[in-house]
Amino acid sequence: MISGISVAAGAAVLPQALVSPAASAHTTKPRPARPLVIGHRGASGHRPEHTLAAYRLAIAMGADFIEPDLVPTKDGQLVARHENEISGTTDVASKPQFAGRRTTKTIDGVSVTGWFTEDFTLAELKTLRAVERLPAVRPHNTIYDGLFEIPTLQEVIDLARSAGVGIYPETKHPTYFASVGLALEPLLARILKRNGLAGRNANVFLQSFEPTSIKKLRGLVDTPSVVLLDAVGSPFDFRSSGDPRTWADLAKPAGLDWLKTFTNGVGATKNLVIARDPAGNLLQPTALIGDAHARGLKVHSWTFRNENQFLPLNLRKGTDPNAWGDVIGEIRTFLAAGLDGVFADYPDTAVLARDL
Ligand code: G3P
Ligand code: CA
Repeated sequence: MISGISVAAGAAVLPQALVSPAASAHTTKPRPARPLVIGHRGASGHRPEHTLAAYRLAIAMGADFIEPDLVPTKDGQLVARHENEISGTTDVASKPQFAGRRTTKTIDGVSVTGWFTEDFTLAELKTLRAVERLPAVRPHNTIYDGLFEIPTLQEVIDLARSAGVGIYPETKHPTYFASVGLALEPLLARILKRNGLAGRNANVFLQSFEPTSIKKLRGLVDTPSVVLLDAVGSPFDFRSSGDPRTWADLAKPAGLDWLKTFTNGVGATKNLVIARDPAGNLLQPTALIGDAHARGLKVHSWTFRNENQFLPLNLRKGTDPNAWGDVIGEIRTFLAAGLDGVFADYPDTAVLARDL
């Protein structure tokens, strides 16, 4: 499900970025906020993901938020990587001094072989360099292979603060990391507090596929958050504790009633917002946006990508899976359905689509 890339009570509390500046003392209702563009792993369509270069470009392209996925180092530092196994996005496999660190672990019930961030100190990770995750899909990005470090969360915060944009950090594999003595939530809460980002008006959304992680964070900070929802499968914290609910269950009214007691919104995969027919064509919007809004929950959706293979069948252009299709049409269709924010690998495209 949540692979590196998939082909395929305070609910009214909002970050300042979500409150329209047009609302004034003379209005009784704030004007709906402009949908957010979230630079997914930075501008990951244009630069290797989760690098300061990718985040900087996302900001330059007009993203409102930049998105670091978070995993820990051996010495308890949070760094930006989509997963703790780093052979797909760094040059670690080419480093003889780290050859002995290659190992096999079970992560969220899946056997994974490679090199893991929790087996490296931050100083060791800083000797590595990022590489493009999808060289066959985005060969232009390979010219940047070997240039950029793995950034820490603090470096991402410093960049966002200097640019005046928000951050959207995601806890990755939180149940697993708690089981190995590296619980993510206290580490994240500490850094948020240290940076003055622990309040209800912080320009931040916290996110996780595991609701328990968001509940824990809500006990530590007042920072706004969303729970991520996939169309298939169930959260690993639920599977670990015997809770039978799936993510799709959480997208239904009873699930949303529960979520609104501890979070501000949902980050839903696109298919939960607008379903596709068996052939892959876009159908009509589901009830999710209306049901969530009725409960004061925001709906953000992922992931909007320019390439045909990630688009609905009826919005593809030509037959090359890596050629760009009508992603602008896709984003406009989703925004017209009432979506509050889009995670986009190409923030420039998303900003254009939103502002047309
Ligand atoms: O966090 C939103 C979206 O990024 C979830 O998918 O796997 O890219 O982290 P993933
Ligand atoms: Ca993410």
